[in-house]
Amino acid sequence: MNSRPVSLAVQLGRLQLPNPILVASGTFGYAREMEHLVDLSRLGGILPKTVTQQPRPGNPPWRTVETTGGMLNSIGLDNDGIEAFIAHHLPYLRTVRAAILVSIAGRTHDEFVQMAAQLDREPGIAALELNVSCPNVSGGVDFGTDADSCRRLVAGVRSACGLPILAKLTPNVTRIADIAAGAADGGADAVSLINTVLGMAIDWRRRKPVLGNVLGGLSGPAIKPIALRCVYQVARAVRIPLVGIGGIATIDDVLEFLVAGASAVQIGTANYYDPTVTMKLLDALPQALAEAGVASVAELVGTLHTESPGQPKAASANGTAAR
Ligand SMILES: Cc1cc2nc3c(=O)[nH]c(=O)nc-3n(C[C@H](O)[C@H](O)[C@H](O)COP(=O)(O)O)c2cc1C
Repeated sequence: MNSRPVSLAVQLGRLQLPNPILVASGTFGYAREMEHLVDLSRLGGILPKTVTQQPRPGNPPWRTVETTGGMLNSIGLDNDGIEAFIAHHLPYLRTVRAAILVSIAGRTHDEFVQMAAQLDREPGIAALELNVSCPNVSGGVDFGTDADSCRRLVAGVRSACGLPILAKLTPNVTRIADIAAGAADGGADAVSLINTVLGMAIDWRRRKPVLGNVLGGLSGPAIKPIALRCVYQVARAVRIPLVGIGGIATIDDVLEFLVAGASAVQIGTANYYDPTVTMKLLDALPQALAEAGVASVAELVGTLHTESPGQPKAASANGTAAR
């Protein structure tokens, strides 16, 4: 067994974090709800629920349903708006000894830029994550499906705000690597991927969709292979760091994402069925890295071998699987 000390610190562009285990937006409330279960100061970073400029009531019920290996949600960015976030949630978040990455979603380019400028004036924020990927709202999603809109949005936010910027991408596109390249060209420090996968559930007896919004976002272990594929493809297309998200629940999941090319990960749905999952992952991480034979997280990032002698190539990065 390798007994060298292992460095857990990670660098996401201008953002340095003590370790690569973060919690994903929308799955950890505003952190206060979790403080009796989780030692928040151990987390690599905390992403509170996405904030919008105006309060949003969210979508009609039902808004969540369990599925095989995961869940569907159509929350619809239910939140009290940026003024309430600054007044009621940020003061608590500032007291937490962990990096706070504030997730924002605008309906327009200008809304994103205005929110970024407003949050830039607030102390205690480590970075912004631009949610250009929520499948449950109509406005805003085109920034995540068109590379040039994504580039212009990130560039606009970057010129209005000095904080490190992460762009959170949707898998519900044909070529996620193109969108990531747009974010990188616009000046993003990192891209986070993925948000939920568009899906639906049906109650055939009532001939009705289960979710009030008909469609929702699939998350949890069921989407891990999709998320890994996205990280793999994007890692080959951009030079900025990646944050892997999607179905991560075990230490093996974490290392798979690092090997695929993610420098850090966010844990989402697993927090619902095991609120202490992040603590378990942090306990297991040093030993797992030692087992991988590396002295730092960075040393493992993107070390995937796609071809080994005598084996056929399994898949090309642009999506054509070999038969
Ligand atoms: C109930 C629920 C609410 C979510 N809300 C948000 C949100 O407000 N902003 C956001 O960027 N992602 C949101 N997400 C997506 C997660 O942050 C994450 O990207 C996705 O669930 C995939 O990770 P997972 O499989 O580990 O959950 C939400 C996910 C769930 C399950």
